[in-house]
Amino acid sequence: MNASPNSLRPNASAATRPPPLGAGIPDRPECPFVELRSIAKSFGPVEAIRNVSLTLRSGRVHTILGENGAGKSTLMKILAGVHEPTRGELLVRGQRVTFANPSESQVAGISIIYQELSLATNLSVAENIFAGHEPRRFGIVDFTSLFRRAQALLDDLGIAIDAGAPVARLSMAQRQLVEIAKGLSRNAELVIMDEPTSSLSDREAEVLFNIVTKLKARGVAIVYISHRMDEIPMTSRSCATASTSVRTTRLRQRSAR
Ligand SMILES: Nc1ncnc2c1ncn2[C@@H]1O[C@H](COP(=O)(O)OP(=O)(O)OP(=O)(O)O)[C@@H](O)[C@H]1O
Ligand SMILES: [Mg+2]
Repeated sequence: MNASPNSLRPNASAATRPPPLGAGIPDRPECPFVELRSIAKSFGPVEAIRNVSLTLRSGRVHTILGENGAGKSTLMKILAGVHEPTRGELLVRGQRVTFANPSESQVAGISIIYQELSLATNLSVAENIFAGHEPRRFGIVDFTSLFRRAQALLDDLGIAIDAGAPVARLSMAQRQLVEIAKGLSRNAELVIMDEPTSSLSDREAEVLFNIVTKLKARGVAIVYISHRMDEIPMTSRSCATASTSVRTTRLRQRSAR
């Protein structure tokens, strides 16, 4: 997998670094990071997706395009451990896995940035970014380290937001960038971005595309979901289209590397 140090986890010393993500799953560089095989998902009578197969490789950007209700978010929530598939197989590094909950997906190295904002507006940017995995000293949240690491992460990503600012004071676009930083605060090997530009200006979208390029160069696999043809990242190598009429996803390869 990605052998180079991933500076998206700033200032993590060897002593404080958590166990490697995907611990327990053997590293098999010859395998794609993730494979979805003939996945289907129904919610009662609603067949959200039918027979979707996708291969997600490290260091590649995979774009999924599809109209509203085509099943894009449902597919990604299966990868994120939110939904269990009704049928089909999920493989991580060639090994069949099932995720009982989102934590198990995170431990396998998968990070999702949801379409819906999930920030706590009464907390600071830093507290939101590291919610659930705050740096601790003697069991107590180490706020100095929390703010320092959050600011370093924002700076590394080129996001000009103060880590100490209350989220309530941020614009919707700024909140979406914080959501992205939150999704990248763990050492993910696959980052899923579900319609990330929906409330971003052109300039903020540019910041996002730079982040995508940076992650790709670091060997991270990226899934970029959109319903806009004009916004397929230039770095995207494969593109899937999801259609409500057939509830299926077809991959077509693009020539860009
Ligand atoms: N939790 C749920 N319970 C019942 N039906 C659901 C649930 N989640 C999604 N669906 C249905 O599954 C289908 C696919 O929805 P999904 O949100 O995955 O589509 P999408 O491609 O992400 O759409 P959008 O572009 O609007 O985000 C829709 O018909 C939706 O109503
Ligand atoms: Mg969606």
